[in-house]
Amino acid sequence: MIVIRVLLVLFSSLFLCPFIIYFETITRDMSRRILVISALLFLFVANVTAREGMWIPALLNRNIDEMQQMGFQLTADDIYSVNHASMKDAVVIFGRGCTGEMISGEGLVLTNHHCGYDAIQDHSSLEHDYLTDGFWARSRDEELPNPGLTVKFLDRMEDVTDRVMKGISALGESKRDSIMKANIKEIETSASDSGRFNTVVKPLFYGNQYFLYVYLEYTDVRLVGAPPSSIGKFGGDTDNWMWPRHTGDFSVFRVYADKDNQPAKYSKDNIPFKPKKFFPVSLKGVKANDFTMVFGYPGTTTQYLPSQAVDLVMTQSDPDRIAIRDRKLQILANQMEADRKVRIQYAAKYANISNSWKKWQGEVLGLKRLNAVEAKKSFEADFTNWINAAPDRQEKYGKVLPEFEKLYEAIRSWTRARDYYSETVRNGCDAFKMADMVNHLQLISPKSDAKMVEKLKSKLIEETENYFKDYDRATDEKMFVALMRIYRKLDRSVLPADFIKLMDSNDDAKLLDRVYGKSMLCNKEKILAFINNFSQKGTTQLQKDPLIKLYSVMKKHYAETVEPIYNELDAKILSNQKLYMEGILAMKSDKNLYPDANFTLRVSYGKVEGYQPRDGVRYDYFTTLDGIMEKDNPEIYDYNIPQKLRDLYAAKDFGSYAENGTMPVCFAASNHTTGGNSGSPVVNARGELIGINFDRCWEGTMSDLMFDPSQCRNIALDMRYVMFVIDKVAGAGYLLDEMQLIRN
Ligand code: ARG
Ligand code: GLU
Repeated sequence: MIVIRVLLVLFSSLFLCPFIIYFETITRDMSRRILVISALLFLFVANVTAREGMWIPALLNRNIDEMQQMGFQLTADDIYSVNHASMKDAVVIFGRGCTGEMISGEGLVLTNHHCGYDAIQDHSSLEHDYLTDGFWARSRDEELPNPGLTVKFLDRMEDVTDRVMKGISALGESKRDSIMKANIKEIETSASDSGRFNTVVKPLFYGNQYFLYVYLEYTDVRLVGAPPSSIGKFGGDTDNWMWPRHTGDFSVFRVYADKDNQPAKYSKDNIPFKPKKFFPVSLKGVKANDFTMVFGYPGTTTQYLPSQAVDLVMTQSDPDRIAIRDRKLQILANQMEADRKVRIQYAAKYANISNSWKKWQGEVLGLKRLNAVEAKKSFEADFTNWINAAPDRQEKYGKVLPEFEKLYEAIRSWTRARDYYSETVRNGCDAFKMADMVNHLQLISPKSDAKMVEKLKSKLIEETENYFKDYDRATDEKMFVALMRIYRKLDRSVLPADFIKLMDSNDDAKLLDRVYGKSMLCNKEKILAFINNFSQKGTTQLQKDPLIKLYSVMKKHYAETVEPIYNELDAKILSNQKLYMEGILAMKSDKNLYPDANFTLRVSYGKVEGYQPRDGVRYDYFTTLDGIMEKDNPEIYDYNIPQKLRDLYAAKDFGSYAENGTMPVCFAASNHTTGGNSGSPVVNARGELIGINFDRCWEGTMSDLMFDPSQCRNIALDMRYVMFVIDKVAGAGYLLDEMQLIRN
């Protein structure tokens, strides 16, 4: 898992910043050395002056003094309390991987445009192209339901370490695991209140601590409004991960509940949910050095990895995946350019592939700039000195670092096989996803319960309909050929013989004919009929379909050869990392350390501030509508703004949202955030909503592994721009009536 985390991934101190800026004006070489030295000095020690860190809301009493020194005017209890309504009651998990916040007493929830993207796209067609034109429900009746979309409120979090560890002290490793699993199950079940709550126990500090999280999940979440992509995704993938930024990345939903304000399946009779707490919206704006806090669900960070892990990410894993995605994006871009329908069908897929692809590139550059591997090695030298100062430490932690050396050496090639499989097969061409879906039919046996069979069939029919809505055969065929040619580059020893044989010719047309030409998976009517009429006899036909056959062979071969070895090494790395983390916590026992992000609720705090990306260049902390107009270009898809916005700009019709005659759009701040923090509320010293977090700056994307206070900035959308777009551009000002706007 740990390497998965490293791969999925996505540090600091206030006083360091002026030093770096100062030194960078000396020679490049010297400044490089100084950067390394600063990184060495502050790595792991950095947590004393915020910016770096994603803190546990229930334990903020350790941070609150510092937060208040930085300007925060409220208390730890105002942020998180189990006894009365607090900010945490207004922050939600939006969908599967984003954050959202309640902004009205009638269930309005705000998140990013890119977090609502799937929902918006789902309601879009050539006739109703909400992606392009935007969507605003003119009344509650027009709000659009989104099956599958949920919003989760955290009821409470609790340290359950002692309960998880109960009865394990004298046991061997394997027995420990099963007892801990049983303890966790028991804790989760007893907290669920007979299924009313969603409960999960998660490890912190690699299993040195455990927390229970109890959620209430609402399943009737309706789309209220979204700006056109030319605002919500302004700058598109070109500006993504970059500052200065001008993206109006927001969308608005409403949570519905039953008459008792409890979660309920979608029903016309449901009524708007009344949250315990919602954020007031500040229209007062932000100034340089203002205190800011981001409250949300950061997904994954890996700040405590050894040097070898960082090296693996930086020199192999990121580059491998970047190269494969280069090819995927090329293919999609060509197809989307040529056909409007394909553009709509593949918009979300393209954005997903492009997002990590671009982030990994920034990450590699950032890690190189920080000399991350050397910085880690230097920390490891300190760790070794600390170990060597006491025999009991030597006994306990003496083998940790040498063990990492061996394990990471061993896992390198398996990581490559895994990355390739993931990028070209598991997340390869669409037809493989279809193959995976219909393979579920094989679960049906003569003994199967008729109801279960019906349920499975109707689920598959629905998934098939959805699948074909966003499927273009010509695009998928190109993807298939390209990705199979890439997968074939792996060493023969990790590839199935049938696949090697299939790839023996360089003739793409022949390859396609052998696989796609004779498959039923590319034909919606055929596959729907097949599912409808499926009986046991159909199994043979399934197994004979060339696409299903190829996919199944590759999946099975991977599961039998690469996966077990990879997983075994990964498990060893994880258990070694647990011991290493225990050592680090002991060595730094006088410091307040934060656990790596694990998609649980965290608080980051910092300041509104720009930065100096390179010599001679200084970035301001805010952007305005003037910058949008500078970029506006009807010829370029990513920069072609709605005419309405041009007209409002020309008339300087900014309502009461402007500052000094222009419209603020985004601002940069030094809060430690990561993927999952999208849509998170950015609040000011008084706990009022000033922004919506949606991205990080290019120069700071390595913050998932190593934070640099001089370069790492989160990017937020200014709430004044959000209100301006809703009110003036969309003409949906009636929504503002349910909000609490703070003007002065
Ligand atoms: N980079 C942001 C995040 O990681 C925004 C992604 C969506 N936007 C895009 N242009 N693909 O999620
Ligand atoms: N856009 C990211 C998300 O979807 C947030 C940016 C980041 O990774 O910091 O969560």
